[in-house]
Amino acid sequence: MSKFIFGKPINMLLHGGDYNPDQWLDYPDIFKKDIELMKQAGINEATLGVFSWAAYEPKEGEFSFEWLKKVMDELYDNGIYTILATPSGARPVWMDLKYPEVMRVDGMGHRNRHGFRHNHCLSSTVFRDKVRIINSKLAENFSDHPGLLAWHISNEFGGECFCDNCRERFRDFLREKYHNDINELNHAWWTSFWSAKYSDFNEIEPPYTNGQFSINGMNLDWKRFTTWNYSDYISTEIDSIKQASKNKNVPITTNFMSRFYGIDYRVLAKQLDVISWDSYPAFHNDEETYADTMLLAAFDNAIMRSMKKDTPFLLMESAPGLVNWMEYNKVKRPGVHEQFALQTVASGSDSVQYFQIRKSRGSAEQHHGALIDHVGTNETRIFREVSETGEMLRRLHEVEGSIMHNQAAVIFDWENWWAVDGAQAFSRHTKNYDKTCFSYWRKLMEFGVEADVISMEDGFSDYKLLIAPMLYMLKPGVADKLKTFVENGGILLATYITGYVNETCLCNLGGFPGEGLTDLFGIINTEIDTLYPSDRNEIVISDSKYGKTMTVKDYAEILRVIDADIIGTYKDDFYSETPAITVKKHGSGKAYYQAARCDISEMCDFFKCLLDESGIEIKKLPEGAEYHVRYGEEHKYEFYLNISDDIIEIDNISGTDMNSGDEISGNAVLKPKKYMVIRSGK
Ligand code: GLA
Ligand code: ZN
Repeated sequence: MSKFIFGKPINMLLHGGDYNPDQWLDYPDIFKKDIELMKQAGINEATLGVFSWAAYEPKEGEFSFEWLKKVMDELYDNGIYTILATPSGARPVWMDLKYPEVMRVDGMGHRNRHGFRHNHCLSSTVFRDKVRIINSKLAENFSDHPGLLAWHISNEFGGECFCDNCRERFRDFLREKYHNDINELNHAWWTSFWSAKYSDFNEIEPPYTNGQFSINGMNLDWKRFTTWNYSDYISTEIDSIKQASKNKNVPITTNFMSRFYGIDYRVLAKQLDVISWDSYPAFHNDEETYADTMLLAAFDNAIMRSMKKDTPFLLMESAPGLVNWMEYNKVKRPGVHEQFALQTVASGSDSVQYFQIRKSRGSAEQHHGALIDHVGTNETRIFREVSETGEMLRRLHEVEGSIMHNQAAVIFDWENWWAVDGAQAFSRHTKNYDKTCFSYWRKLMEFGVEADVISMEDGFSDYKLLIAPMLYMLKPGVADKLKTFVENGGILLATYITGYVNETCLCNLGGFPGEGLTDLFGIINTEIDTLYPSDRNEIVISDSKYGKTMTVKDYAEILRVIDADIIGTYKDDFYSETPAITVKKHGSGKAYYQAARCDISEMCDFFKCLLDESGIEIKKLPEGAEYHVRYGEEHKYEFYLNISDDIIEIDNISGTDMNSGDEISGNAVLKPKKYMVIRSGK
C-alpha cells in the first residue's frame, strides 16, 4: 500500500533544500543564475524563509512579502516547488530589545542577550503572539500558492528555558500530572530522601544547575515538561497557519535532528502530517569505518520512518559537500553523496534535500557546503555529484509513496534513555543506550532484516521479533504488553538493565525485572556487576545452535533462575557457572534474557536462531552489503548498497534494474559506493 505525503502523487522524489534569496535581494542577477543552476542540477524544491523574519517584518507591525511572492512565482514557473518555513527559528533584533522575555534563561538563571538563533522562551506569550501574527500573514498570502507543497515549522527545536514563565508552567504541568496533590508528587519523587519534601507546588523550581538537580523523578518530569512545552508551542504555530489558510490541506512538518537528546520527538510527531529530519553523518572520521557511519545514518532514518510507519518521511537537510560545525569538516569523498542520497530513499524517504542551495556570502555559515558555491558556476565537483543525484532521483521517481512492512522492531525509547542516563549507577562512560540499541538493529541488517525502531508505548502486535535493549524503565502497561506479545507467539529479547524502575524512577519492588517480568523471563536479577573497560568475562553456550562463546564487557547481571532454560553461563569470576542467557517458552512464543553486554559480532548464531524462531526470512548477503525494501501498490523495490571497500557480489536477484532498465536474474557485482535498485512484482 502506498501513501503519498502530499495527498496525491507528485510523480517525483523531491530534490531541493534551504534556499535564502532574501540574503541576495540587492543582487538580482544571482537569483536568475540560481534558477538556471537549480534546473541543471535537477532541483525541484526550495525551502524558503527559514530565517526570514527580519525580511518579512523589518519593523514591528510593518510587513513585506513582495520578495517572497516574486521568488515563489518564479520558482514555480521553472518547475520548482516551495516548502515554506515559518520564520520563528530566529527573531528580529527589535523584538528582543523591546520584549526581553522572549529570550531564554539558562540553567543558572541568567537571561540570554539578543543573538544567535533558536534562543527563545517557548512559554512567552509575547513570543507566541508575534509568531501567530507572522504565521497568519504567511498563511493568508501563500497557503493557496500553486507552488506550495508543505509548511515547515520553525527550525530544529531544542534547548530548555528556566525563566519564571517556564517555572510557572512547569508547576502547572505537575499540578495536572499529580492531580493537584503534593503528597502524590512527594511519593512519586521520593522526596523524603535528603529532606526534599515539598508542601506546595509553588515551592517547586526547575532543576537549576545550581539548585535541586538530584531528584531523578523530577529531572525526568522536567524533560517531559520541556517536550510538552515544545508540543504545546507547535500547536500555536500549527493553529495559526490552519486558521488563516485558504488551503488548509497543506501538510505540516518540522525538521528533527536524529537522536536529539532533549526532546521526545515521538510526542511532537503526533502533531505533524509528515516527519522530516536533518541528517549530517560525520563521514570519514577517525573512529568509524564508512560502513559504521552509513549504518548509523540508516538507523536514524529508521527511527524517523517508524514514527509514521505508513507514510514516507522527508530528508529535509543534508550537506551536499562538507559541513562547517564539526570538529573537523572533511569533504564527502566522490560517490559518497549519491550513495548516501540513495540510502535515504531506500530507508523510506521521498526526498533528498540540502542545507543549502547557495552559500551565504557572509556570517556563520559562509563556508558550509552548498549546491552553488561562491564561484557561482556548475563547474564544481559538488555540483556535478548533486546533478547526478538529481538524475538518480528522477529514475527512481515511481518509488514515491512506497513504504516498508517490517516484521522486527527494536525499542529505542527517549524517556528510557533519560531515565537510564539519569540513574547514578552503573558507569558514567559505558551506558551508551542509543548506541546499544543501534548495535542490535545493525546486527539484524546483517541478515537482510530491517527493523522498525519504536518506543515502549508503540504497539508490538505488528511484529514477530521484538528486541528491547536496556529497558530500565517500565511505563504503566508496558510489561503487560510484553507478556501479551510473547503469549501471542512473539520472540522477545531483553537484556541486562531491564525493568529496574517505574515511570517516575522509583525502583520496582519484588525483584528485577519488575512488573511481573520475572515471571515472563523466569529469572530474577540479584546483582549487577559494572566492569572496568579492560575487564572481560565470557559466556559459555550450552547449545551449539546459539553459538559457542560470547565475550562479556561492561555489564554482567547475576541471575537466579526460577523457571527458564539456561542457554549460557559465565565462565569467570565469583559468578562463574551461573546463568547469563536464558529462555522461557510461553506457547509458541519465547522470552529471552541476555544478562550481560556481549560482543555482538559473536552473536551471529544467536541472532539466526531468533530470526528462525520468529519465522522472519533471512536474506543471504555478502559482507559489506546493505539492503532495504519498500513496497508500492504493485511493486516491490529492493535496494542494495555496497558500503565496503571491496567489490561484492549479490546472489539471487530477480527483477528490473531501475538504473539501466535491464532485466536481471541471478548475480550482480557492485563496486564500492555503488548501489542497485531492483523492481519486481510484490
Ligand atoms: C542545521 C540547521 C541549518 C544549518 C545546518 C548546517 O541543520 O537547520 O539552518 O545551520 O544545520 O549544517
Ligand atoms: Zn522560559
